[in-house]
Formats: sequence, structure tokens, C-alpha cells
Amino acid sequence: MQNLRRLLWPSLTCALLLYAAYFLEDLLRELRSGAATQAHFFLRHAVGIGIWLAGAWLVNELIHVTIWNRAASSALGGRPVPQLLKHLVTLFLFALALTGILGFVFQKSVTGVWATSGVVGLVFGFAARSLIADLFCGIALHLDPPFRIGDWIEWKDGNEEVLARVEQINWRSTRVHARDDTKTIFIPNSMLSTVSVTNVFEPHGRTRQVVRVPLDADVDLARASRVLLAAAMSAEGPLQQPPPDVLLDSVTTDGIIFCVRYWHSPELSVTRVRHQVLYSVMGALQDAGIPTARMRHAVLTESRPQPLPTTRSAFEILQRVPLFQAFSSEEVQAIAQHAVQRELSQGDVVVRQGEPGRSLFFVAEGLLDVWIERAGQEVVMLNRLSAGQYFGEMSLLTGDPRSATVQAATGALLFEVDKATLEPILARRPEVAQLLAETVAGRLTQNRDTLGRSAAPANGGAPQSFAELLLGRIRKFFSSSQEVHSPGGY
Ligand code: CMP
Repeated sequence: MQNLRRLLWPSLTCALLLYAAYFLEDLLRELRSGAATQAHFFLRHAVGIGIWLAGAWLVNELIHVTIWNRAASSALGGRPVPQLLKHLVTLFLFALALTGILGFVFQKSVTGVWATSGVVGLVFGFAARSLIADLFCGIALHLDPPFRIGDWIEWKDGNEEVLARVEQINWRSTRVHARDDTKTIFIPNSMLSTVSVTNVFEPHGRTRQVVRVPLDADVDLARASRVLLAAAMSAEGPLQQPPPDVLLDSVTTDGIIFCVRYWHSPELSVTRVRHQVLYSVMGALQDAGIPTARMRHAVLTESRPQPLPTTRSAFEILQRVPLFQAFSSEEVQAIAQHAVQRELSQGDVVVRQGEPGRSLFFVAEGLLDVWIERAGQEVVMLNRLSAGQYFGEMSLLTGDPRSATVQAATGALLFEVDKATLEPILARRPEVAQLLAETVAGRLTQNRDTLGRSAAPANGGAPQSFAELLLGRIRKFFSSSQEVHSPGGY
């Protein structure tokens, strides 16, 4: 309907003028006076000019309706047709109409007119050469498009990498929207054809970004890799598939440069995801006690300095676990003495669903997946644990078999504390049993939500009252086993 309305006026004008042209000779024959000669001249020219201009107008509108609105936009995958292309076609049609007017209405030599306009064009072109360069680069951008409207492009402006979304490709410039939505940038087309432009989210519809992290040359490579990978995987923003990875980039005099690579989708801002990844990486490095590389100016005349401690001690790790926050250093030290360090490779299973278990694990580094397998059904992912969290408390506290399988998603470092070590602590510190019971209740409630009602806690009620029920069970279980185990004491 809208298309028909678009064509209505040019069609009517054309029809009217053609009608006028048809009866023009009859009309002129009737006018014989001197004034009639002028009217004759005027009318003949006006109708001629009108026909050519209205014809160009009609053809332009027809192209709009049939090509721009349908064919071209479907060829461009539903994206709008660039303004520049529309303007060029319009200009061409009216230039053609102008030539027609000169040649057919005024009986002038068209070649002469084009030749004169060529000289004028040269003078004009010299004066406006940068404008013309922009225009032709704009045409080139259309003929061989390195990007389309809606694409994200990146280019270097001085030393700064600029990333923006293409909004419109115009005569002189390309209009882009900065990634942080704060500004619109107009880039001269001639500049775009001289710098190298990266079409960021092509061809996969996602981008891979890299964060470079310099670490001291003495760093334990395997440890650093797993801490960095766990940090990238647990940061908000990067895609889980394809997963982030960590590679060694280079070795410099200041240390070893690690590359943390990750993918993310176009909906997220590159800067924000980079911030999230760096935030997570720096936090994880600080937690693991791995310093970033420092500029070195010292000349070493004696033996090399001692390498940094390879891992944080069990004491340092346990001290930061919220469970032991209220403990004195001596109390934490007593647990740490009995903690066994366990280093895992990606894919290693620490505890398996259904097996008996008598120890609690604290995550020092890396990520671990907690999943459950229900008879005849697929595996269901319950959670992902990271540094500072613990697992294995359910079997340890209740005596039940392991409720889930815990598997290393990246390389990981754990500390294992057995029941015999924890028994005297639970006897002395009832608040620890309370906290553990709350964790169990919270996790079971979360599992119920993930798996459906069948996995509901026995009482099916609120986590708080369920925690109390559990607490009773824990006390019973521990008081029965205390008769078997002699308290370790510290
Ligand atoms: P346990 O049953 O001894 O062994 C499997 C462990 O997985 C379990 O103790 C919990 O520590 C842990 N676990 C179970 N469900 C969750 C969950 N939803 N979130 C985190 N850890 C869990």
C-alpha cells in the first residue's frame, strides 16, 4: 500500500505531462498571435522538461519499491541498503534526465555539454579532492564491501585500537557507534580504505580476545597455567564453548608472557569482558600467591635468587576458608598439619557418586565440576567449584555414600582433611558443624531445584529447618564414631 502511494504522484505527473504533450500541437495551432509564439516556445519546453524530470522521478521511485525495498535488502540479509548507493542511483537518473532535456528539448549537442562539464568538473574536483576521494572510497566500499551495516569493525587510530559497530555508509563518511555506546564516530571513507580494518565478529559471529599476563620467569608453569585458565573460565562474559585457553606467548627479560584467550559474543562489550577476565585473573593470581612480573634493573652478581615458593601452604589456604574464619592460627595450623595435598590434571575424578567417603576437600587452585548421574538418565551438572570452596562434607558428616561425582574441569590443587582430624574440631566448635550443616542443606536444596522434586531433602522443607535436622544427624553420626576414633587434639 505504501509502495503504491509512493508511485502515485510521479505516475500522475508523468501521465498528465504526456497527455499535455499529445494535445500540445493542436493547442498551439489555435494560438496565432505574437504572444502565442512565446507561449508556444514556453509550453513546448516546459512540457518537455517536465516529462524528462517526472520520468526520472518515476523510475527512481520504481527502483525504490522493486529493488531497494525487496531484492537488495534480502540480498543483504535483511540489512538496510546503504544511503550512498541510493543517492548514486538517483543522481545518475537525474543526470540522464538532464542530458535528455539538453539533447531533445533544447536540441543541443550532448557531447559538447559533457565536454564543458568535464572542464568545470576538473576545476571543481581539484578544489574538492579530499571530498572526492571520500566519495570514490565510499563507492569502493560498496563494490567490494569489507564490512556491512551492523558489523563490528576494529582499526588502529594512532596507538589506540578502536572498536565500533557500522551504522551507515554515506557519501563522505561511514557512521559507526562506539562499543561503549557513548558516541557516534564519523570516519572519512578515504581513511577507511587506507588503514587495515578488522571485521571482528566474522566469520564465526563471535570474537576471540587475548589478555597478556607477564609473570616472573621462576613461576611454576603448570601452576600458573591452571590458575589463569580457572580464572578465565570462571570470569563473567567469556563463552564456555569454545572454552578459554592459556598459552605461553614469549619470554622476555622481565619474565614470561602468558596469553589468556577467550571468545565472547557480539552482544557484550569487548572492554567489559576484558575487564571481567583481568579482574578474575588478577584476583586468582593474588589468591594463589603468584606475583606478576616486575621490571628488573638489578644486576645479579651472586647466585640467582631462590625461586618463589611453589604453592601456598595448606595453612594459608585453610586460613582463607570462611568455615575457619573464627579460628585462631594455632587451630588452623593443627588442621593444616594433617591436610594432604593433591594435585589433579584436567578430567581427574576426585570423588565418585555412590562410593563411600570419609574426607573433606578444600580447593586451593583450579575449577571442579560437580555432577550427578541418575539411573538410565543423562549426566546433570550441579555446580562448579573454585578456589576457596570445599566439597565432600555430605558423606563425611552423614556417613552416606558420595552424593555426586566431583571432577577437575582444569588442572587443580586440593587439600584433603579426613574425618579423624575434623572430629575433635566439631566436638570443640559446634558452630563449624552448624555451618557445614547449612552448606549441606543449601546444596541439597539447590540440587532439588536442578533435578526436580525427586531429589528433595527428606523433609522437603526450608533449608534452615533441614539444616537443623541434618545437624542432629551429624551429631549422632560423630558421637557414634567418636567411640571408635580417639580424638586427635591440637
Ligand atoms: P559428598 O556427597 O560427600 O560428595 C560429593 C560432593 O559434591 C558432596 O559431598 C558435596 O560436597 C558436593 N556437592 C553436591 N552438590 C553440590 C552442589 N549443588 N554444589 C556444590 N557442591 C555440591
